[in-house]
Amino acid sequence: MSDKSKQIRTFVEEELEIFGGPLYMPENSESQQVETTQLSSETNSLSAFNDEIKDCLNCSLGSSRNNFVFGAGNPNADLMFVGEAPGEREDMEGVPFVGRAGKLLDDILKAINLTRDDVYIANVLKCRPPNNRDPKKDEIEQCEPYLLKQIELIKPKLLVALGRISAQTLLRTKDSLTAMRGQVFDYHGTDMVVTYHPAALLRNPNWKRPAWEDFKKIRDMYLDKRGERA
Ligand code: URA
Repeated sequence: MSDKSKQIRTFVEEELEIFGGPLYMPENSESQQVETTQLSSETNSLSAFNDEIKDCLNCSLGSSRNNFVFGAGNPNADLMFVGEAPGEREDMEGVPFVGRAGKLLDDILKAINLTRDDVYIANVLKCRPPNNRDPKKDEIEQCEPYLLKQIELIKPKLLVALGRISAQTLLRTKDSLTAMRGQVFDYHGTDMVVTYHPAALLRNPNWKRPAWEDFKKIRDMYLDKRGERA
């Protein structure tokens, strides 16, 4: 405790002794001051950026998380997937899309001749919302700049928003997934397409067919952008 805090504490304790009455005084008022994580414009590698933000407590999710889930994959990827937020398994392991939905994403990637090492995978939120509820406005406001900085460092040629919530959040729209699928959006200067969240495909296998159509287009766009389409 600083000298000033000690003086204030002593003053309040004396006042209480003389006048009585309930008075709330935190045990250590300094420890309650949480530093806000600020972005530095100079950070120029993904791992340095992870170090810079991994202890973020800018929203309430910071205090309930087990792990900050920064993102994973190729730091120079041309294709980047953006999910909604870590789930239980991701929160436990600190890696995005490692649960059942993640396994399905791996299988879909394999079907278009890609692996996790070819792409980058991140989420709009880096910390798990309790009971996997939808992201809140203030959480998005705090966390989206982290995603933007990741995109600035990775420089993908194509972004894929996985699921309605991710797409609606990033595009600031209430449009349905059906309305968004098949369009190419501009997300802060990078082309972005929208498809089903793998977890939705596990819940509703009827969507696997249209999702496969989306992923074939994603593969073609990716190859076109790399100048590799035969
Ligand atoms: N769902 C998401 O949106 N992201 C994950 O990382 C896992 C499940």
